[in-house]
Amino acid sequence: MADGVRDIVLREMAPDELILIETIHATAFGRDEEARLPHAIISAGHDVISVVAVDGDYFVGHALFTALEGAEKALALGPVAIVPDRQGEGIGARLVRHGLDLAQQRGWRSVFVLGDPAFYGRLGFRANLAKGAIVPWAGPNFQALELVPGALAGWAGMLVYPDAFGANDEQD
Ligand SMILES: CC(C)(COP(=O)(O)OP(=O)(O)OC[C@H]1O[C@@H](n2cnc3c(N)ncnc32)[C@H](O)[C@@H]1OP(=O)(O)O)[C@@H](O)C(=O)NCCC(=O)NCCS
Repeated sequence: MADGVRDIVLREMAPDELILIETIHATAFGRDEEARLPHAIISAGHDVISVVAVDGDYFVGHALFTALEGAEKALALGPVAIVPDRQGEGIGARLVRHGLDLAQQRGWRSVFVLGDPAFYGRLGFRANLAKGAIVPWAGPNFQALELVPGALAGWAGMLVYPDAFGANDEQD
């Protein structure tokens, strides 16, 4: 069904669409943690770029970029989800690229993500760019992308995520 991708609209989410995108995350991740995250972050008033993929009346994907503190004009990407029956059509990659384009146009300098390098690596994210970040989820799956060349060159420090991401939660 690769032809269907041509009809997908990629755009920013309207505030009253928040409830619709919760279902995307709940079905894609098979649990509620990620589904609750966009509402928690957006309702707390954080600076975000929230993009959706829409096929007709059907919401098929959502990606959230949230402002971080600690690095200049840095965003966190996540959660990202495509509904299960539309995964593997290239929609996720296009949706993330759309969000990255908007972020670049608006003067954001870098984006951090925790996820599979097999997916994020082909979008330009690199673990070595994120090595200077002090975060609870540091490791090979923690990656960064520079929207401005050299934005993270020589940078190291604590990255502060909004509380909803659970950085301060007790780990089992
Ligand atoms: C991960 C996810 C967002 C990717 O979206 P998608 O539309 O299915 O991915 P795409 O079709 O754009 O894939 C782009 C490429 O990445 C690869 N890819 C996609 N998901 C991948 C994954 N989880 N692991 C490894 N590679 C993956 C695809 O094979 C594809 O490669 P190709 O172009 O060589 O075929 C989607 O599958 C999803 O919602 N999964 C469940 C939730 C999740 O894990 N979210 C990510 C959390 S960080």
